[in-house]
Amino acid sequence: MRARATTVFACQSCGAVSPKWLGRCADCGEWNSYVEERREAAAVSAREADARPIGDAEVPVSVRTSTTLPGFDRVLGGGLVPGSVVLLGGEPGIGKSTFLLQAARGVAGAADVLYATAEESEGQIRLRGERLGIRTGRLLVSAETEVSRIVALAERRAPALLVVDSIQAVRDEALASAPGTVSQVRESALRLQRYSKTSSVPVILIGHVTKDGSLAGPKSLEHLVDAVVAMEGERASLRRILRASKNRFGPLDELALFEMTAEGLEEVPNASAALLSERRAGLPGSAVTAAREGTRSLLLEIQALVGPAVSGSPRRVALGVDGARVALLLAVLERAGLPLSSREVFVSCTGGLEAGEPAADLAIVAAIVSSARATPLPEGAVFFGEIGLLGEIRRVPAAASRLKESAALGFTTVYLPSGNLGDIQAPPALALRGIDRVADFVASLGAAPRAGASSAESTRPAPVR
Ligand code: TYD
Ligand code: MG
Repeated sequence: MRARATTVFACQSCGAVSPKWLGRCADCGEWNSYVEERREAAAVSAREADARPIGDAEVPVSVRTSTTLPGFDRVLGGGLVPGSVVLLGGEPGIGKSTFLLQAARGVAGAADVLYATAEESEGQIRLRGERLGIRTGRLLVSAETEVSRIVALAERRAPALLVVDSIQAVRDEALASAPGTVSQVRESALRLQRYSKTSSVPVILIGHVTKDGSLAGPKSLEHLVDAVVAMEGERASLRRILRASKNRFGPLDELALFEMTAEGLEEVPNASAALLSERRAGLPGSAVTAAREGTRSLLLEIQALVGPAVSGSPRRVALGVDGARVALLLAVLERAGLPLSSREVFVSCTGGLEAGEPAADLAIVAAIVSSARATPLPEGAVFFGEIGLLGEIRRVPAAASRLKESAALGFTTVYLPSGNLGDIQAPPALALRGIDRVADFVASLGAAPRAGASSAESTRPAPVR
């Protein structure tokens, strides 16, 4: 029986549908985002649903496939899970195709891999492969763009991995709308997901991301897949960050750092060292924090610049740290006796990373105090701890791992919540300073020996105002 076709209008920004055209999406507020799309009302087959006692449910035997790229495997939670769909998102030109060709090469060492290149020609992929030094006959490329034909090809070839580059460039011929529209992207992804589940072949979809950070077209794609991995980085910089923002089979916020080379992306073995490599110790306004990223701890530099307001209300700018948190911390500092309300405050996390955790509070405050007083923080110090509205320093998770990373990078003193002191054993090279209240912390920083000051001026104690 042929399904009945209906016409609907779908918001290209959030995926909401409406029977009539709307000038503004009622769901996401986007203007002019509705596009007419035809939907096939599929007939439901007569098969009855079934259920079983939980103890009889089949447990999937999960033998993960390694991509041979340790950082990618780690972000995935230990390699590719059979029958799972991974979405690799990132801005155009950031390096997604290159990276997945590297992963495809790794998997193709032992088995066939099918790389469906809906965006570029087979020849372009070959040239890219040659630049990367790929010469394996087990890496198959196809420039097919129609999703059922891609699936049929995969069923025939039975690869160990299917890569679709990109999900926005494939289409389902049964749908009238253009590639890249919400319904095309959704239907194609659904089709590939069904293939993955029935064949147990892992599928990686490349998805282009728009400037505002959302996946172009349907946000709803994120719900269809098992894992969403984002590739981030400044266009101008060679550094790329891989991070899982959703993962049914692994930890969240796991992170890997890569550097672009002529031979493709290479993982940076010591991420903390790389992130701190440009730090100039001994300058006022610079503090190091030990952040938790997935299963690892990573050292990040927080910088603050406090100065007199140029005019009007003083500016407050936060980059890579939460602006609302900075405002809150400034209010707490004000109460603790550091008057900042008439001063401009800029706070940033360097290296293109985000210090999104509350555990970064103590380092943000340390950097602000240090800049306001034009006094560098004690040399070799790391700061972590969450600050409450009442000025109390609250315990943070994974203190032991943060200490270990601090010691590994040669830091000697760690300022941390007193509440964390009970549950950890410090590495021998570390001196621990447990803190209870912001006011005590601010006072103790003022009293600290000003070792490593870079200029005569910064060694002079400066009044806050
Ligand atoms: P590409 O993989 O095409 O990006 P995307 O698929 O996300 O649009 O990479 C963009 C360009 O950068 C391409 O010309 C290849 C180049 N490149 C390198 O030279 N070295 C690298 O390590 C990477 C990742 C890319
Ligand atoms: Mg590409």
